[in-house]
Amino acid sequence: MNSMTIAIDGPAAAGKSTVAKMVAEKLSYIYVDTGAMYRALTWKAIQEGIALEDEEKLETLLKERDLKLVQSEKGQLVMLDGQDVSEAIRTDEVTNQVSIVAKHQKVRVEMVKRQQELVKEQGVVMDGRDIGTHVLPDAEVKIFMIASVEERAERRYKENVEKGFDADLEKLKEEIRKRDEIDSNRSVSPLVKADDAIELDTTSLTIDQVVEKIIGVVRKAE
Ligand code: C5P
Repeated sequence: MNSMTIAIDGPAAAGKSTVAKMVAEKLSYIYVDTGAMYRALTWKAIQEGIALEDEEKLETLLKERDLKLVQSEKGQLVMLDGQDVSEAIRTDEVTNQVSIVAKHQKVRVEMVKRQQELVKEQGVVMDGRDIGTHVLPDAEVKIFMIASVEERAERRYKENVEKGFDADLEKLKEEIRKRDEIDSNRSVSPLVKADDAIELDTTSLTIDQVVEKIIGVVRKAE
């Protein structure tokens, strides 16, 4: 089989996107970061002063604006109304509010539809929270990546320090816990492991080890 679909889900800051990107590169598949779509909508709503609890307005905003994930040489770019917002959607302001936007059913229905359209003939690695359960329920490979909150906060902390950003380990732990809680307890497609997903605890694994394990699962499924 040479064009599989690979779903990678898991809680916040578990390293999904880093790993998913590397797996996609090794297999020459496209990589789709679905979290970036929820982030872009959140960013735009904040810009426009739209209340993040207002489901109808968020749905309209999403349908009226031109939100696209574009594959480029630099990897996936997030384009909104022709503007590259790939960096802008990574701020703390967006990170700490995106789960409110992602709770809404009407927002999710539209997002899932668009994500499913991105899977055509080519192999794809898609990461998110509901990929194995809702977006690609027939994915050939489903991985559910977990790691302790301490480890995830520690990794984020190091990343922030390396980038020269302010970093507070306790605050990061609290933010990650809060985001997981909202994502896991929402009524529409909450973060849960699909019954047929393989759980991978990455707490004591390096990025390369996680990538190798996933490639191993893919090879077996081929
Ligand atoms: O993956 P990332 O951390 O960038 O995702 C940001 C947020 O978007 C998540 O915390 C979650 O609220 C939402 N999300 C989601 N479903 C997805 C991907 C992301 O609800 N498939």
